[in-house]
Order: sequence, then C-alpha cells, then structure tokens
Amino acid sequence: MVKQRTCIFISGTGSNLKSIINHSRDPNFPIKINLVLTNNKDAKGIKYAKKFSIPFKVLEYSNKKFERIALREVIGKKIKLICLAGFMKILSKNFIRNFDGKIINIHPSLLPKYKGLNTFKRVLKNNERYTGCTVHFVDEKLDNGRIILKKRVKIYNSENEQILKKKVQNEEHRIYSMAIRKIYI
Ligand code: GRF
Repeated sequence: MVKQRTCIFISGTGSNLKSIINHSRDPNFPIKINLVLTNNKDAKGIKYAKKFSIPFKVLEYSNKKFERIALREVIGKKIKLICLAGFMKILSKNFIRNFDGKIINIHPSLLPKYKGLNTFKRVLKNNERYTGCTVHFVDEKLDNGRIILKKRVKIYNSENEQILKKKVQNEEHRIYSMAIRKIYI
C-alpha cells in the first residue's frame, strides 16, 4: 500500500503524536509521518520525533511567519495530510484553503458541544453526564469542520478535571488513528 505522506503539528506533550506513530508502524496503516512541526521549542512531544527518527522542525514565530515557513516545509515534503495534535495556534483561512479537506484535528469534547479551551472544567461545571473526544476536518471556523469520529466517555460523580482528562485522552489515542484509517477507506 502507498502510505499518504503526513505531517503532525504539535505544541505540547505529544501523547497523540506518540499513539499515531505507534499505529503508523503497521504496514497496513494508511499514512507515514514524514514531518513533525511545532511552534514550541519545549514541546515534550519532540522527543517522540527524535526517538523514531522522524524529521521535525521548531518554528517559534509569529502566526504569519510560522505559516509561511510551515507551508514551505509541508509542500517541500509533498505532504498530503496534516494532523493537528494538541496544536495551540489557530491557523489562518489562507493556510487552511491551501489544504482544503486535508487538515484534521482532535478536540477533547463531543463536538459541536464545548468548542474552544478548558473543555473539562466547563463540562464538570455544567454537571454533564457524558463528555468525550472528536476527530474532525478543519475548516475556517474553530473546532467546526465535518466530524470523522467521536467517542463518548461517562462522567462519574467523584471525578475531577484531571481524572476526566486522563480518561478522555485514553480514548483520543484510540480514535485518532481509527479516524485516519476511516478517511482512507
Ligand atoms: C488533547 O487533549 C487534544 O484533544 C487537544 O490537546 C490535547 C493534546 O494532548 N487538542 P497531546 O499533546 O497529544 O498529549
């Protein structure tokens, strides 16, 4: 199988990057990670790129300059899919238009509910019984594009933000790769 050339954008811990790397080692997984880009030189996730000898670039710049260089890198590596995995910059309309339908993101809520930041805090404050995570295509509005896959997680009374985050992230690590497989079926 010809694997789609993929770039992962990260800003932090990189636990989703790690899980996608693990899945991508399966010969039948539809993508190969050819590049990792980050806007944060201290992103812990960089260590996974290093460990698996995946080329990575640190682009600690303003949004405009970040996008200009990121575009050059991604085009240079003939990237066909961009996965945002804990990437904390908001990409411009212009950047997204260059990769229409080829950028996906994972968000820690059951979209369209709880777009934006601090999802766990807001979910607990509203006494929700369920939350979860969503993989979706990126369009010009925040956390808005077509949904590829969602996973629901039950919230128990005793749970705090930290526990909930851990539970949801465990599911993220499963559904991100399932969603990538789904795109290429
Ligand atoms: C994840 O919870 C994801 O849903 C959100 O940012 C977090 C990134 O975690 N967009 P990690 O860097 O993949 O560990």
